[in-house]
Amino acid sequence: MVMSRRGSGSLTLPSGQTLAIHTRTHDEEDLPHATKRTMADHLRKYESLFTLTPQRMRMIVEAFKDSLELGLEKTSQIVPMIPTYVFGWPTGQEKGDYLAVDLGGTNLRVCLVTIQGDGKFEITQSKYRLTEEQKQGDGQKLLDFCAECLKIFIDSSLTDPLNMYLGTGGKIPLGFTFSYPCTQTRIDQGVLIRWTKGFGATNTEGRDVAEMFRKSLDKYELPVELTALINDTTGTLIASHYVNPKAKIACIFGTGCNAAYMEHVKDTPKLKELGIAGDIDMAINCEWGAFDSFEHEHLPRTKYDINVDERSNKPGEQAFEKLISGRYLGEIMRLVICELIDEGVLFLGQNTYKLENQYVFDSAFLSLMEGDPTDELLMIIGIFSHFFAVETTLAERQFFRALAKLIGRRAARLSSCGIAAIVSKMGYLDEGCHVGADGSLYNKYPGFADRIHEGLVDIFGEKGRNIVTHHAEDGSGVGSAIIAGSCFGFIVYYS
Ligand code: BGC
Repeated sequence: MVMSRRGSGSLTLPSGQTLAIHTRTHDEEDLPHATKRTMADHLRKYESLFTLTPQRMRMIVEAFKDSLELGLEKTSQIVPMIPTYVFGWPTGQEKGDYLAVDLGGTNLRVCLVTIQGDGKFEITQSKYRLTEEQKQGDGQKLLDFCAECLKIFIDSSLTDPLNMYLGTGGKIPLGFTFSYPCTQTRIDQGVLIRWTKGFGATNTEGRDVAEMFRKSLDKYELPVELTALINDTTGTLIASHYVNPKAKIACIFGTGCNAAYMEHVKDTPKLKELGIAGDIDMAINCEWGAFDSFEHEHLPRTKYDINVDERSNKPGEQAFEKLISGRYLGEIMRLVICELIDEGVLFLGQNTYKLENQYVFDSAFLSLMEGDPTDELLMIIGIFSHFFAVETTLAERQFFRALAKLIGRRAARLSSCGIAAIVSKMGYLDEGCHVGADGSLYNKYPGFADRIHEGLVDIFGEKGRNIVTHHAEDGSGVGSAIIAGSCFGFIVYYS
């Protein structure tokens, strides 16, 4: 008779949910599970599909560089290289209290940021989870909700907000971090090019979202002045440099992915007609998630990636982001699992309907699987039994962990290609530079940063070690505050 073992304990998921594990593992019991050998054979197949060689990475970097250049040269390119009208680096000595509203891919955050100078800051914040209805409903209503949350925050967290800014007409400068591609002609304006990250709110694409948000702020009679519309990467760039002047690039690896860096106006041909002095620098929001969109010439997409793309609300778009970001990694893994279920390899005799719906497999599961510290892989037992009501053998769990690793590692290595393209375009390799990074994938996925660094060495050789990523703590809130403050004329910002 086969001995059964029991695991028990509890785990807290990123969503805050607690997962209790009281699960019996039974590798060779009554259900017709796949053998260790079968799983190993399948793993080999996925290894060849998801692995990126250094040579392939270097080819991607070259194509990436061309796309960045093209975006700087002309408007309306696939990688739009958006001028942000944020000029130059902060000095590190900025000071003041500012409000920031951050509409990201998953949450809405409202923050009061106290910039203290010397690279220091303090944040008080409230976080709200966005519902699917808000993401897909009317855009103005979504912005009304943002204004309503800001009102609740001001009423409950600020004791005497109107006194904070003597001589300013009683208005508090507000930075609006809006993490979607917007064309800007000024810092306090931005026309949404397209939604990304699964958002689809109506009546918003093609419109000035800053103007729309002002309407919502007026509706709630808030004592604020929206002085800047900022992408999360631009905020992170400014915040990272404020804390660490070696930071020259910022990246977000979260629900979506993107990067920003400081570019010379003279090297941005499409800005020529504005007559800005060539020796000035301006932050560029690359919107690199769009790299290789529509034409799909450069990135190695598997049939699972193509499936994710074709069934998304924006087929063809955000091709790079769909291989990397937290919104999609779980879905890629789910499609592989479903294929193995259909082939009769996994979960024979078990009811697998819970695995059949799009996006039910959270990307956080991949990071929990990779981080499972137990020999029996209790975390993986818990995920499959609790969320999908299926039982797994140790061989299957080892396979799932290895698969998560392949998908997570590919995401990190592709991310290195994007960073390498900016580094190489700007000539930062020899002198080295820091890259401020933020986002759930970067912060929570075990080994993500190490894999990016490993990828940079694969691309550049030993010199790749000169490029170091580090966590930019609350970049989008702090950067947004610094920029909002500088636009209000309270702090000396340009260096
Ligand atoms: C958006 C970017 C954003 C990134 C990270 C992407 O989907 O297009 O604007 O910076 O997600 O949040």
